[in-house]
Amino acid sequence: MLQRPQTGIFLTFEGIDGSGKSTQARALAASLLAQGHDVVLTREPGGSTGAEAIRRLLVEGAADRWSPETEILLFNAARRDHMEKTVLPALARGAIVISDRFADSTRVYQGAARASLRPLVDSLHDMVIGIDPDLTFIIDMDARAALARGLARKSGEDRFEDMGAVFQEALRAGFLDLAHMAPDRVLLIDGARDMGAVSADVLAATRTFMSARR
Ligand code: ADP
Ligand code: TYD
Repeated sequence: MLQRPQTGIFLTFEGIDGSGKSTQARALAASLLAQGHDVVLTREPGGSTGAEAIRRLLVEGAADRWSPETEILLFNAARRDHMEKTVLPALARGAIVISDRFADSTRVYQGAARASLRPLVDSLHDMVIGIDPDLTFIIDMDARAALARGLARKSGEDRFEDMGAVFQEALRAGFLDLAHMAPDRVLLIDGARDMGAVSADVLAATRTFMSARR
């Protein structure tokens, strides 16, 4: 299991595809940078050279390319490399790490929405990662509206979006469950508003968290 350094702050953004997570992660990173903080903006799957290579295996190709079990292993392999090479070194030097997706995505995408693989997801997380963020923002919004935003982008990385609106609805429910299960760590943010309103909420919550930490 990995050891969390005592220093640094680890923030994550979660939510269904197209909810605005990446937009919000970038906005928060820019605000904190402008205030003079050491900020590392990263993403999953990816965020390190090895994990970006694994990302391509995961996000491209047919929806049924991997069995659910293989997919869980690949996400954990990518996450372990991301932690070793990017997240933990940054926390060790006292940085604020902002990750666009992390382990909650595996809990929801692989553990809740597909088969009943949550026990495998949880065991693997405990064994090879063992670290959760200090604070997680779930950007919540209607699944169809989010899907329309996401597909409009046509990134070529739409393997999960291609699974359709019913799947996205199940994912949204999974994220809402997580927010209820871990209220101390997970903050639910209404993402169906203009970007500035959403980012103002996120920044205010981050500031509250940081001053409570001092
Ligand atoms: P995600 O990372 O959750 O998939 P993105 O941040 O990439 O979502 O946003 C998906 C699309 O929706 C982008 O084209 C982005 O510019 C747009 N978008 C993001 N936030 C909002 C918002 N609050 N209102 C309208 N459009 C948005
Ligand atoms: P991402 O690049 O965040 O997609 P988007 O910007 O469209 O939200 O993530 C790629 C896909 O990988 C996304 O559909 C969610 C999925 N995913 C999982 O299924 N499990 C995971 O553990 C992670 C990190 C992502």
